[in-house]
Amino acid sequence: MDQLLLRLWRSFCLMLGNQPTLRLYFLPLLQRCWPGYMPHLYRATLLDKQWQTDDMLQLTLQVSGRWPGFVPGQHIVLSINHNGRYLSRTFSICSSLKLWHSQRHIQLCCKVNAQGGVTPLLQQLQTGTMLSISKAQGDFYWQQPANAAVFIAAGSGITPIAAMLLSQRHWLAPVTLYYRCRGEENAALLSALQQLATKQPLFSLQLSDSRIEPAAHLQAECCANANAKQFYLCGPAAFMQHMRAALISSGVSAAHIKQEQFGLALLMPVITPGQQAGSTEPLTARFIRAGTATEITLNNQQSLLQNAEQHGLSPRFGCRMGVCFQCVCDKVSGQVRDIRSGVLSGHGSEQIQLCVSQPVTELVIKL
Ligand code: FES
Repeated sequence: MDQLLLRLWRSFCLMLGNQPTLRLYFLPLLQRCWPGYMPHLYRATLLDKQWQTDDMLQLTLQVSGRWPGFVPGQHIVLSINHNGRYLSRTFSICSSLKLWHSQRHIQLCCKVNAQGGVTPLLQQLQTGTMLSISKAQGDFYWQQPANAAVFIAAGSGITPIAAMLLSQRHWLAPVTLYYRCRGEENAALLSALQQLATKQPLFSLQLSDSRIEPAAHLQAECCANANAKQFYLCGPAAFMQHMRAALISSGVSAAHIKQEQFGLALLMPVITPGQQAGSTEPLTARFIRAGTATEITLNNQQSLLQNAEQHGLSPRFGCRMGVCFQCVCDKVSGQVRDIRSGVLSGHGSEQIQLCVSQPVTELVIKL
């Protein structure tokens, strides 16, 4: 019955506003009345920030009571308002469930990239600043704590793994963490993990200093006695790729290897049956801004946001992954596909998110 009512309500919203919810239909109005309002995001207050290493900044956030919580290992999208524009990045939660349950606090350990567009701004945030966070996402979590497990982290890849280990209350099997870093001084969250290793006999921590230990040594050590263990990998893409290949070639089943991959890596273009990857069927779009139209030839393997930017247009954007709704604009005509789900839009006038929409037909879009 509930499902039927929900379907009827969605049909009503689609009929009325060509949107699955009325909130999206009224979004421009809501944002005008309540600056900073973004659907599906929750308020968080910055309580503290501390440098964990020279380039890893730990933020402590007091999160809205409406936020539904997280499974250790999951990540969130954090949005900050900078000069009236919302900028977003994905970060893994690095703190324990206990901190969340007892105080409604979470911590993020953010790698600050001096050349980046968002992370350098984090160091300028003042205590008490209001931020927005998404629901926790991702399926990188400790799935079978009753089995022996090996965690392998490199650099900032330690953050989701630290949350899993620091949240564990009942230790049932031996667990080893191999933590690859450029020396102890560059190992974020190290002291909490060392304390855990001191008090929990089933947990051992092995540091691998990338300045003196070749990656091949670490791979050989992880592959020795790998049978019947679960592996959890998190780190730079190339590191995970090599480690995964080494484990598989030493006989570990791919089903026993879990690895984190978040954010835009998941937003791969959807290829429909009959459509070849790399298809170059030429499509055009007319982007209209302040009465001036710019016609561009589209690459139908890219999002409309990427297409517009490559032609010198600069639409508003925030997260670039469909979360913050900063890139919502009016499609006047034509059809798009949602990159995340493959769902096709209608052909008429409706609002779309440029960052997660791929062109399917010729388009006219108001920026
Ligand atoms: S940029 Fe955030 S939803 Fe598109």
